[in-house]
Amino acid sequence: MQPATAKVTVVGAGYVGSTCAHLAALKNLASEIVLTDVLEGRAEGIALDMNQSAAIEGFQARVVGSSEPEATYDSDLFIVTAGRPRKPGMSRSDLLEVNGRIVCEVAESIRRGSPDAIVIVVTNPLDSMVGLMRAKLGFPAQRVIGMAGVLDSARFSWFLSEATGAAVQDVDAMVLGAHGDSMVPMPRYCTVNGVSAQDLVPADAMDAMVDRTRKGGAEIVKLLKTGSAWYAPASASVAMAESILNDGRRLLPSACLLNGEYGFEGIYMGVPAILGRQGVERIVEVPLSTESRIQMQSTAGEISRDMDSLRDLGLL
Ligand code: LAC
Repeated sequence: MQPATAKVTVVGAGYVGSTCAHLAALKNLASEIVLTDVLEGRAEGIALDMNQSAAIEGFQARVVGSSEPEATYDSDLFIVTAGRPRKPGMSRSDLLEVNGRIVCEVAESIRRGSPDAIVIVVTNPLDSMVGLMRAKLGFPAQRVIGMAGVLDSARFSWFLSEATGAAVQDVDAMVLGAHGDSMVPMPRYCTVNGVSAQDLVPADAMDAMVDRTRKGGAEIVKLLKTGSAWYAPASASVAMAESILNDGRRLLPSACLLNGEYGFEGIYMGVPAILGRQGVERIVEVPLSTESRIQMQSTAGEISRDMDSLRDLGLL
C-alpha cells in the first residue's frame, strides 16, 4: 500500500468530528489529520489521546488538534462537522441561523488557507449549509459536496437487512433528495446482491422502512435526548473522503449542486454521484417514477425555503 500523503482537516471536535478523525486515522487516509474546535483544549486533548492509540493500532497518520485556523492551511480535504446538533422535537431547519453563522466563519478560513481543497459539509440543515458553504467559498461546485445520502442509504440498508435476514453488506439502498423529512428513499433501486428488495419484502413493510428511514436521525435524537447520531454519520463522511482521496470513483448519493439534472437548477440536493480525485466527477441521472418525481419537487421546495431564510437572515 502506498503511504498516504494527504492533509485532511476535520472541523468540529464533537462526536461526529472526532469519530471522523479516528476513522480517517485507522484507514490511513492521510499523513496528517487536523482536528479543530472553537473550544480551546478540546481538539488538542482528543488528538493527543488518538496519537497515543497509534502505537496499538499501528496507524501512520499524525493527528494535530488545534483551535487556530492556521493549523488547517494547505489541507487537501475538509470534513466540516462544526455546528449545533438537534435536540428532541427540533427539525434540522431549526438550526439554520446558528449553524449558518458557523459555516460562514469556517468558509472564510478555508478560502484563505486552502483555496484548492475539496470540502465535504456535514453540518445541518445539510442541503442549505452546503449551498451556503459553496456560495461563501466561491469554489467550483465539483469541490463542495454535502454528506447525507450515504448516511440515509446506510440506515435504509440496515432496516432492509433486518427485514430480509440478508447480510447488510449485500444490501444496497438508495436515498435521494434533502436530508430531512422530505427525503426520497428509492425502493426501486434497493437490491440484495442484485435481487430487487421489492421482490423480497411486502409493500407495507417497505413503506414502513421508507418512513423509518425518513425519520432515522430523529429516532436517535429522541433516544439520546442530548444530541444526535455520530457513528453512521462519521462512517458516511469518511467513505466519501476515501473515495475522493483514493480516486475510488464510488457511486455515492451526495448533495451536489444541480445544473439542470433532475430538472433543477442552482440548488444543492442529494443525487447519485461518482466521487473521485476532482470531487464530483459525474452526477448520475436515474429514471424516476412519477411518484418519485413529485417527491423530488417537494424536497427541492424544502431546500429552497431554507435558502430563502438564509437570504432573509442576511447570511447569503
Ligand atoms: C442525522 C444527522 C447527522 O441524520 O442529521 O443523524
